Amino acid sequence: MMARKVVSTGRGGAGKSSFVALISKYLKAPTLLIDLDPDLSLADMLGFDFHKEGKRTVCEALYDVIEKRKSNISPTITTHDLMESLLWSDCLYEGRKMDLITLGTKLTEGCLCAPDEILRKTIPKLAKNYASMVVDSPAGVEHLNRNIVSDINDLFVVCDPSDKSLKHISRVKEIIKQVGIRYSHFYLVANYECNEEAEKYLQGKGEVYLGKIDYDAYLEQYNLEGKSLLGLPEDSPASLSIKRILAKAGYQIR
Ligand SMILES: Nc1ncnc2c1ncn2[C@@H]1O[C@H](COP(=O)(O)OP(=O)(O)O)[C@@H](O)[C@H]1O
Ligand SMILES: [Mg+2]
Repeated sequence: MMARKVVSTGRGGAGKSSFVALISKYLKAPTLLIDLDPDLSLADMLGFDFHKEGKRTVCEALYDVIEKRKSNISPTITTHDLMESLLWSDCLYEGRKMDLITLGTKLTEGCLCAPDEILRKTIPKLAKNYASMVVDSPAGVEHLNRNIVSDINDLFVVCDPSDKSLKHISRVKEIIKQVGIRYSHFYLVANYECNEEAEKYLQGKGEVYLGKIDYDAYLEQYNLEGKSLLGLPEDSPASLSIKRILAKAGYQIR
């Protein structure tokens, strides 16, 4: 099995995580979600309490390994190998409907190079166990530079109706080219704030425009109350939009 790899990107607050949570319901199972956003929002949106289940973020596990290493004089296995096994045992949250790995927030000074590298090397191995894999990105384009997933099937850009959002589209394309990320499809999706004018603009961008995610008062309410988006009614505006968008991208909706 080789997972269909999906990445959602966009500006902060555009609705990337909501998009990921919503599509995860309709993708071919088994599905693995990877949350690269430091604020744990995807787990919250799906109602996954992975800490309660004894699971940790990649950064938390790595921090423990590094701390233990300080008192261990002759380690026989490398930090990287140790982390990779920990990733499977401690960081992989196995939900009823889908699994989740959360990168988390860096706990020590410095960059995310080490956790990024662990994910970069482990993702291809993990991908063999899933039919679908979805990456939720932090705001902006910097995560693309980190090249955590270099082989993408479908890249969804969730666009808000702002000048910056439109510049974001061009930046994403530029960086992908520079970094050498391969992708099969580049899709634009309008977020709930877009009006007709913004939609027209996206249609004329020369990219594949899949449509708009309608404003959904239920979704807003669910997020506010911390209720799982997996339980969002099938006929609510956002659910209907997502099904339409995925169908347009050639997905078989289950
Ligand atoms: N279709 C929608 N209808 C109404 N509110 C939405 C919709 N999509 C997202 N939101 C709201 O927008 C805010 C940002 O969404 P989120 O998915 O966290 O964005 P991001 O991950 O891009 O930062 C949240 O408060 C969420 O409830
Ligand atoms: Mg988010």
